[in-house]
Amino acid sequence: MLEVEVMNRMWFGSFMIVFLVAIGVWGFFQSPFMQQKSAGNLNTSEEGTSILDIQPIEAGSRPTKQFELTAEKTEWEIQKGESVQAWTYNGKVPGESLRVEQGDLVQVELHNKLDVPVTIHWHGVILPNRMDGVPGVTQDAVEPGESFTYKFIAEDPGTYWYHSHQHSSLQVDKGLYGPLVVEEKGEEPEHDEVFILDEWAVHQDRENWTNMGGMMMGSMQGDGEADTKEMYDTFTVNGKAADAIEPLKMEEGEKARLRFVNAGYQLHQLVFPEGSMETIAVDAEPVQSSGENNVLEIAPGERIDVLYTKGKGDEIIGETPSIENSQDMQIPVLSSDSGGENLQVNAKDTATSKGTSHASKELLFETIPDVDISYDMNLSMGMNMGEGMSWQINDRVFPDTPPIQVEKGDIVKVDITNEGRLNHPMHLHGHRFQVEAEGGGAVVKDLINVKPGESYTIYFEADNKGEWLFHCHDNNHADRGMVTIVDYKSVFSPFELNQKNQP
Ligand code: C2O
Ligand code: CU
Repeated sequence: MLEVEVMNRMWFGSFMIVFLVAIGVWGFFQSPFMQQKSAGNLNTSEEGTSILDIQPIEAGSRPTKQFELTAEKTEWEIQKGESVQAWTYNGKVPGESLRVEQGDLVQVELHNKLDVPVTIHWHGVILPNRMDGVPGVTQDAVEPGESFTYKFIAEDPGTYWYHSHQHSSLQVDKGLYGPLVVEEKGEEPEHDEVFILDEWAVHQDRENWTNMGGMMMGSMQGDGEADTKEMYDTFTVNGKAADAIEPLKMEEGEKARLRFVNAGYQLHQLVFPEGSMETIAVDAEPVQSSGENNVLEIAPGERIDVLYTKGKGDEIIGETPSIENSQDMQIPVLSSDSGGENLQVNAKDTATSKGTSHASKELLFETIPDVDISYDMNLSMGMNMGEGMSWQINDRVFPDTPPIQVEKGDIVKVDITNEGRLNHPMHLHGHRFQVEAEGGGAVVKDLINVKPGESYTIYFEADNKGEWLFHCHDNNHADRGMVTIVDYKSVFSPFELNQKNQP
């Protein structure tokens, strides 16, 4: 009897050991790390044409704008007495401001003085695939000491930004981003400013929080930003927090175009003085007059331009006061002779304007088009043994997510549904898509913020051959799997996702 029991226990014990080892091994192979390593080429068939051999750039006699951007380590002061070890383009956060005119040939030489590889992705710009800056997909990451030249024609005016796409969750966080403005040809210069919003982990180590317990707890809370809110403790506008933010100088009645870019991973809601602002463009596409609203909601990766009219006395544009760290994100607007003491963000709840609130002036499709390719995209959270949380598209993590396979000329419909508890700002490279606007009509964008429980249907034309990322712009989610590819069947990428090339 005793013997049987001992035998039973031994059997059960060794069974458990085998079982746990098996789970461990399975978990390891399931992990994003392992999957990235095993993935190899994206389009392994190597049928058709290499992405390096398509879309020649016909410069013609157009003007060329040349820039040099050096990725380097910089001790960056966020506010008095508070510095971070940043990685920058040309020694500042945000990096060098690039302004060009519509139709210019833009040529940017990237030099890498960091000790890790980097790239530059031109967020929102429609360009040839090999200039898209995605390591392992459109190029090899640029090694320390090496250079790479990006070249494209700035066809469409508007607000864009650039950022590293190598290990983006870390590198964009460290400060490798900057503004790119394409001015409309022949447009009168006006008062025009760019504000790039971001969050930093100054007093804490953001990595500490990617443990499972924290993720689980965070994802249970309500507003879709729980994980990001836990990871960061300081907000910045153009690399500076609170008092270090440079005030805008304007006179009563003066108008200015303010271009907002969210380079962070958290949704921001900026409150303007009542009646002072009108949304005029979203993701570089002009929108219809927006009427009365004074809260601007901007998702990670999104760009929204507003026309702001200065009222009487000193004013302030700032984060909604109920959001933690809101005091960091406040832009004073001062008349030339005033000091701007005791300005308060008005907490009054009026209409919120966001990326999908207003219809675009020009549409891609006047009516709902006939569709060649339909793709259902389900966004959810998963768990990998030994790896913690993953963020999934159709229950898979990149590069095992199913690609959206297209031929040139296809009309593509993607139904995106968020079944999880966090916001997922989904960004498509190399294309613009159309989605219904809230107030009627439709809006043309390249990023759609999908909140928990929401669904959107987007339409685009596959008109730009290549291998293009479609991913969550909370790069911490992308890093843990929420990425797929728009894969043109007739081309292939000669690059490999591996230890070195990690988008
Ligand atoms: Cu700002 Cu892959 O994007
Ligand atoms: Cu996400």
